[in-house]
Amino acid sequence: MTTETVTTSIDHVLEETRHFAPDPAFRERAHIKSREEYERLYRESVEQPEAFWARMAEELAWFKKWDRVLNDDTPPFYKWFEGGKINASYNCLDRHLDTWRKNKAAIIWEGEPYGERRMVTYRELQRQVCKFANVLKNLGVKPGDRVAIYLPMIPELAVAMLACARIGAVHSIIFGGFSVNALIDRINDAEATVVVTADGGYRRGEIVELKKAVDEALLKCPTVRNVVTVERTKKPVSMVHGRDLLWSELMDTVSDVCPAEELDSEHPLYILYTSGSTGKPKGILHSTAGYLLGTYLTSKYVFDLREEDTYWCTADIGWVTGHSYIIYGILSNGATTVMYEGAPNFPTPDQFWQICERYSVNVFYTAPTAIRAFSKWGEGWPARNDLSSLRLLGTVGEPINPEAWMWYYQHIGQQNCPIVDTWWQTETGAIMITTLPGVMEMKPGSAGLPFFGVQPRIVDEEGNEVPEGQSGLLVITHPWPSMLRTLYGDPERFKEVYWSKFEKQGWYFTGDGAYKDKDGYYMIIGRIDDVINVSGHRLGTMEVESALVSHPIVSEAAVVGYPHEIKGQGICAFVSVPVGTTPKEEDKEKLREHVAKEIGAIAKPDQIRFTDALPKTRSGKIMRRLLRDIAEGRDATGDTSTLEDFTVLARLREEQET
Ligand code: WT7
Repeated sequence: MTTETVTTSIDHVLEETRHFAPDPAFRERAHIKSREEYERLYRESVEQPEAFWARMAEELAWFKKWDRVLNDDTPPFYKWFEGGKINASYNCLDRHLDTWRKNKAAIIWEGEPYGERRMVTYRELQRQVCKFANVLKNLGVKPGDRVAIYLPMIPELAVAMLACARIGAVHSIIFGGFSVNALIDRINDAEATVVVTADGGYRRGEIVELKKAVDEALLKCPTVRNVVTVERTKKPVSMVHGRDLLWSELMDTVSDVCPAEELDSEHPLYILYTSGSTGKPKGILHSTAGYLLGTYLTSKYVFDLREEDTYWCTADIGWVTGHSYIIYGILSNGATTVMYEGAPNFPTPDQFWQICERYSVNVFYTAPTAIRAFSKWGEGWPARNDLSSLRLLGTVGEPINPEAWMWYYQHIGQQNCPIVDTWWQTETGAIMITTLPGVMEMKPGSAGLPFFGVQPRIVDEEGNEVPEGQSGLLVITHPWPSMLRTLYGDPERFKEVYWSKFEKQGWYFTGDGAYKDKDGYYMIIGRIDDVINVSGHRLGTMEVESALVSHPIVSEAAVVGYPHEIKGQGICAFVSVPVGTTPKEEDKEKLREHVAKEIGAIAKPDQIRFTDALPKTRSGKIMRRLLRDIAEGRDATGDTSTLEDFTVLARLREEQET
């Protein structure tokens, strides 16, 4: 590969000129072997999408073939592969059982307590999934019912989600780092009838009491009939008679045979909540066939995945990355997926590299925030381990700064591995823009070119395409199989959030700003709405603000993001207190803890600034733009003529200095 030496640090806004050609050796054995092949397939995928997707869909296992590839009669409610019957769990498990893969590892699991390891073969995973599917059936769970899953990163999480998929129940996985209130909102919105949790999970040697959080949440969740608790830590938990059941006891008494339900292509597969700029979290709803096809195909081509690969995505299954690229996309390809329960730096900063060496990981997928942390801890840590099995690296979650890209390329990939930067969203279900490995030149910091069937465009507010090099709004002009189908229970909000901005044109609005370079590569700038991207996860400013305001010492709060060395964006909270009260320095920590308790540690503000008033327009809207300037330490620039009280800004700046 051609490598240039890094001499200066390059700012994100400057044009990145380094580029890296694909390695001919990689290309020779890649699924897609040339740029021409990509171009040909891409052209077909956009010119004759139905023929293209029909051919691709042949690679999945169907109980009954579809009648119609795309139903676009009632946009934006698109339907894919109508008339078809399929099951995601069957595609991830059963179809491997009459091949050599039946007794190979489906999941290699590494626990946080040192030395705890499990290998689960495809056949064994299928048996466990059948059993838990029978458990759910015995609890009265029917196709379409919602099951909330609140578990640490243990194999039972994979078992529970695939068991839901097997019987057509809709899983709603709630990240184990979320706390009681987040749990309440999500369980109630989905009207879940069963919750699957654990007595606890390990985090840096401590036990996170998941069951206790569920108990507290259920005081406010009337729809839940049963709680199934996995005994992970063996720490005693309280059990409500008639409601609470133990995983091990239930699993002991059921059969390990449970045929996969023959479900309609459009049968809902799961709900996953994600933050929006306003209101409660949005329940992104994915359906079966299209989602499975999207994750299957992108796993195959973007990660150049083969059945003999050991693949590791370091995300938590509580986020979409884990859904698509730990479970559905990877298992449907018959590869081996690594699952790790612990933190990257506990007890030592080379946990990830030890695991890569221990299992000879071939493909490794992580987030820029993690890469920045590794680079800070130093290249000595990866250097202690043998990383020669790696042949491809990936990144996701936020734009990767070129320095982090270079560090990843040099110290993890040892200049031998292509890096695939993958742009996508919870809503898109699967990777949308990327640099196909072995085929496309890589440019640090650039997401790359559209995947098959994806038709992006960068436009201004009116929908006019902006010239090359100029930034605009990123839209997707045509439907794709793994797209979200709706927001659970709220089709109006679905239309409003994603489709109203370019209603006339019928385009999907991503909420991201982007620009295209001279080679047509997409550079993603970030969110244009009030959503903060903390460590690759979207957090709505609204949610953090509501959490702050729920504390008695707070009267009003405004939250903005600012650049953060490791996390990408940090959270800065401007907090006003009732007139006549004086907040103390230690109140800041109290508020940070309060937010952690309300939402989860991920939402803890990095900075709290007390103020007696927030900058508002005359109509009472908080002027976040000005707060952003202050959080970033800049002089407030731009138009302040709509500001109601000019002295507020000066007072806010003073607060910053104290
Ligand atoms: C938002 C989606 C999709 C999995 C993880 C996050 C940002 C995501 C990239 C990338 C630049 C990226 C976008 C997007 N984003 N990947 N490779 N380059 N930005 O899922 O929580 O739904 O967030 O993350 O802003 O809209 P999510």
